[in-house]
Amino acid sequence: MTIAPHGGTLVNQLVSIEELPTALAEAELLTSITLSPWSYSDLDLIAIGGFSPLTGFMGSKDYDSVIRRMRLANGLVWSIPITLPVTEVEAAGLSVGQRIALRAPDGSLAGTLDLTEIYPYDKEEEASLVYRTADPAHPGVAKLFAQGDLLLAGTVRSFGRPETPFAFLPDHPALTRKLFADRGWKRVVAFQTRNPVHRAHEYIQKSALETVDGLFLQPLVGQTKGDDIPAAVRVRSYQALLAKYYPANRVILGAYPAAMRYAGPREAILHALVRKNYGCTHFIVGRDHAGVGDYYGTYDAQRLFDEFAPAELGITPLCFEHTFYCKACGAMASTKTCPHGSTEHVALSGTKVRALLRAGQCPPPEFSRPEVAAILVEAMAERSALAQAGE
Ligand code: ADX
Repeated sequence: MTIAPHGGTLVNQLVSIEELPTALAEAELLTSITLSPWSYSDLDLIAIGGFSPLTGFMGSKDYDSVIRRMRLANGLVWSIPITLPVTEVEAAGLSVGQRIALRAPDGSLAGTLDLTEIYPYDKEEEASLVYRTADPAHPGVAKLFAQGDLLLAGTVRSFGRPETPFAFLPDHPALTRKLFADRGWKRVVAFQTRNPVHRAHEYIQKSALETVDGLFLQPLVGQTKGDDIPAAVRVRSYQALLAKYYPANRVILGAYPAAMRYAGPREAILHALVRKNYGCTHFIVGRDHAGVGDYYGTYDAQRLFDEFAPAELGITPLCFEHTFYCKACGAMASTKTCPHGSTEHVALSGTKVRALLRAGQCPPPEFSRPEVAAILVEAMAERSALAQAGE
């Protein structure tokens, strides 16, 4: 038996193939709004059940409860508001009770929303409560401050999955649940990531896999901040690594089609609940999960899990210390397992690695496997060639 989705039922708000022609014809005639890439990925995650039990964008009761108590109005744990922001101009012609069409960023019809509420919200308050900072330099806060001043709420339906170069990777909860069941996996650990895979990632993934049946690697492939390594490069790195260093019958590479919020601890809880919907029983939480800059403490995300009763989350966090390569141990380690001083430790920040790559230099083998380093160097060279050509 696979783990129950959050709230008990896997949501499916995708319009069926049979209904699609009529639904599209109806939507053509409706007033429409165009979604940002971020809202478009939220629509998709609601529709495929990744955000179960949500069936639409949150109304003010859920919104208030989530930002203040980390729970939906019905008490179910939920840490990040899933809302649909619009400008006053966009909202001007809309009225509650109306069905409106939702358009993808390219203008094509993406779905519908049965509008139940249009409400204002306090961005500073949301920033302080959800992101723990109102600093506009924080990428998630910057997004929040730049978006519309009103929120639309209501149940959505989606006309299909967004087009993506990652369609070959399983990213639909109903599918991953089936894949796990077909393999007979009862205990499945999920790994969220938005960075190129490095030795510390591999170490914590494999340490976790030692204690469960299967590993579900699920790199986030939605919108990230501009200087993060592109998803295509990250996925390529995983493919290279999996081919040589991971047992094929124990690991599935998927994709998480969400936008990155960089909300640290609160996003870690969301990441875990969503992975439960994908059918995973365990979730890896390492150092500064979903963090950015110095906004969150190294283990703040892990501590937030302790604020909930295990049964309320349903999925078990597997917490890891900050991990590094120790030259004296000749192995990956953490302060939990290594007796040596920091001069023996190779711990590189993402910023330092990006600087090395920009200079055309390979990160050291203690940090990245050579196969991954080669892909990153090549991708960086392509990027700067494109930049020089003015593209
Ligand atoms: S994240 O924003 O998706 O969390 P990243 O891809 O860097 O970023 O991390 C993926 C997971 O690996 C997170 O759980 C993170 O805490 C963990 N992690 C990253 N680097 C380390 C490290 N050196 N030691 C322990 N855990 C780490």
